[in-house]
Amino acid sequence: MTIVRLLILVTLIFNFVASTAIDDAKCDAQLEYFDQALSKHEKWAIELFDAWTKLQSGIVSGNVNDFGHFDQCVKFRHESDDTKVEKIQGKHCMIFYRALENATEHESDRKFDWREIVKLMRERSLRLGAGVCLPSTCSAAKIRHYVNETVLSSSDLVITNDYDQSIFCSTNDSIPFETIDVVAIVILSIFALLLLSSTLYEILMIQRNQRPHELFSAFSVYKNGKKLFDMKRGQSTSIIHCLPGLRTLSMFHIMSSLWKQRGIPIINTNVFSSVDGEWNLKYWASILTIFHIAVDLFLVIGGCLLARSTMGQK
Ligand SMILES: *[C@@H]1O[C@H](CO)[C@@H](O)[C@H](O)[C@H]1NC(C)=O
Ligand SMILES: *[C@@H]1O[C@H](CO)[C@@H](O)[C@H](O)[C@H]1NC(C)=O
Ligand SMILES: *[C@@H]1O[C@H](CO)[C@@H](O)[C@H](O)[C@H]1NC(C)=O
Repeated sequence: MTIVRLLILVTLIFNFVASTAIDDAKCDAQLEYFDQALSKHEKWAIELFDAWTKLQSGIVSGNVNDFGHFDQCVKFRHESDDTKVEKIQGKHCMIFYRALENATEHESDRKFDWREIVKLMRERSLRLGAGVCLPSTCSAAKIRHYVNETVLSSSDLVITNDYDQSIFCSTNDSIPFETIDVVAIVILSIFALLLLSSTLYEILMIQRNQRPHELFSAFSVYKNGKKLFDMKRGQSTSIIHCLPGLRTLSMFHIMSSLWKQRGIPIINTNVFSSVDGEWNLKYWASILTIFHIAVDLFLVIGGCLLARSTMGQK
């Protein structure tokens, strides 16, 4: 009962630490203030705009997602004198956009014309991701609308409808803990405690030249770590201790590769969205792209080890 009460208390405390409040009226005032400052070329507004992605280079080679400068954006603060505007805090959002189906007529005799890149996007049906930086009081919907109307529409670009904007926005405020986080922390802490105390217990016993109790040392890193990489044959030839270790590593391999394959960005969001799959053709990419044969690999290595063990018997 005490634990449950403690959990509820912890949840309440953490949820109380609110992140930046969304306020539509304040957002409108701040966006207008930002627009005006930008037209007047004020330094702070240009700094905020500096954190934005412009048009990334190498989109044809698969550089379709670009974050802009995330850190500069979320750390951005500007105090205004206007009481309606108050303090402006940076909020970073990834927006995804494509070229309009039909280009509007335009005359241009410029040699370097950005619209030619838009034409390229249209021809190849590219969908680009870009980081924008706007006031943190703005909701995801407001930011979408602002970028679509103010920035994109003048370049024959349009924001796409195939994603949930709210999950692509962040500030540097600490994220409030939810019940599920607290539960996970408690469970993992129990495991960590078991691991630590069990390892300590075993090391102490070994130092005292005493045999550790099987049960108390069950979670020991020392004992289990030795087994994980043990290639020695046990008493019974049918047990090779490193096989479960191999199985575990194969499992993690499959899990992490699947995770990447499904487009969840871990290191580089552009890796698997490469336009012509150039990255996937590199021989070292096979570490991640041929994960489905990790199971077969496990079977082959397992088989070799078993054969080695059987032959060693003769
Ligand atoms: C967010 O950035 C501001 C401004 O740089 C800083 O004062 C604040 O400590 C940061 N918050 C966190 C949680 O890092
Ligand atoms: C684009 O132009 C084509 C031909 O001119 C037309 O059939 C089509 O409806 C236009 N699409 C849009 C979205 O306006
Ligand atoms: C973005 O703006 C275009 C006009 O430029 C409009 O047709 C489209 O519906 C807008 N999309 C969103 C998601 O607001």
